[in-house]
Amino acid sequence: MAGITDSAFRQICRENSADVTYSEMASVSALFYKPQKTLELVRFNKKERPYVVQLFGNKPEHFAVATKIISKEVKPDGIDINFGCPAKKVFKHGSGCALMPQIELAREIISAVCGNTTLPVSIKIRAGIGGKDASQCVSTAIKFIKKTKDLPYSAVMVHGRTYEGGFSGPVDWEIISQIKKIIPEKIVLGNGGITTPENALEVLQKYPNIDGLGIARGAWGKPYLFEQIKKYVHTIGAVHEPPLPPVFSKIKKIMLTHAKLIFADKSEMGKFEIRKHLAWYIKGFPGASELRQKLVRAESVKEIKEILR
Ligand SMILES: Cc1cc2nc3c(=O)[nH]c(=O)nc-3n(C[C@H](O)[C@H](O)[C@H](O)COP(=O)(O)O)c2cc1C
Repeated sequence: MAGITDSAFRQICRENSADVTYSEMASVSALFYKPQKTLELVRFNKKERPYVVQLFGNKPEHFAVATKIISKEVKPDGIDINFGCPAKKVFKHGSGCALMPQIELAREIISAVCGNTTLPVSIKIRAGIGGKDASQCVSTAIKFIKKTKDLPYSAVMVHGRTYEGGFSGPVDWEIISQIKKIIPEKIVLGNGGITTPENALEVLQKYPNIDGLGIARGAWGKPYLFEQIKKYVHTIGAVHEPPLPPVFSKIKKIMLTHAKLIFADKSEMGKFEIRKHLAWYIKGFPGASELRQKLVRAESVKEIKEILR
């Protein structure tokens, strides 16, 4: 997630059982013309492995060069191509989701990435483009997959909302399941609206052919969601209760670890980066509003610790 998923957040997610982490999307044109700042953005720590760098842009030649740079200098475990971003500033430049109907160009981009790295390549798409309801635009995603499936990418993450659906509203898991049927040899991950162990289990039981789930906002302030889901899913068949949220003492521990990681990685700037996370961690707890007002003014890990005490 652009603006959210930094090295510290990825480490916290991995510590709490996420299987794979992703970078924020990185511009291939920035990597092509002036790579330094973007290389800084995708820098990672080995604790984040398996770690995938996501690229976005619209020029195959920039993708080719960016892929070489990332493979050689960053050495992640995989490279992902963004065909799903609906943000205006990305879409209006013909990148992200704007590429889904442009299959020839998308093919050139995928080939440019696959042809310039030995790392596994994956793609991120949306359920479609052309209407809020995925059934109005089923053909975009299905057509996209049918017409690119011969290329050697190994995995697809499908955000089951359409371009028009943005980030809210129903997620079409049916399309994700259909996509897996078209490409049984590739990994298909479903994404959208997973926020509890219960809805993760519901989706996995209803669509057992989907290989896994991608979680974005559900992990805000709840990186322990990954672990909760795994525990819950693995008790299928047994008599089980939905997992209770961790006690506040455990959340406090995660908050402090997260704060330490951010300050270690970004020093002074860490105090700005940690604020949103701290507010998410305490959301819904009694006294959260008062606590948030204090936490957002904290200047150091020590201060955060004192406030939490
Ligand atoms: C603030 C924010 C930034 C995002 N940045 C990216 C990004 O850089 N690359 C990407 O593939 N998806 C990005 N997404 C989309 C998410 O990865 C995900 O597909 C979407 O939020 C749906 O999943 P969710 O319902 O679990 O949040 C972003 C979403 C949000 C809310």
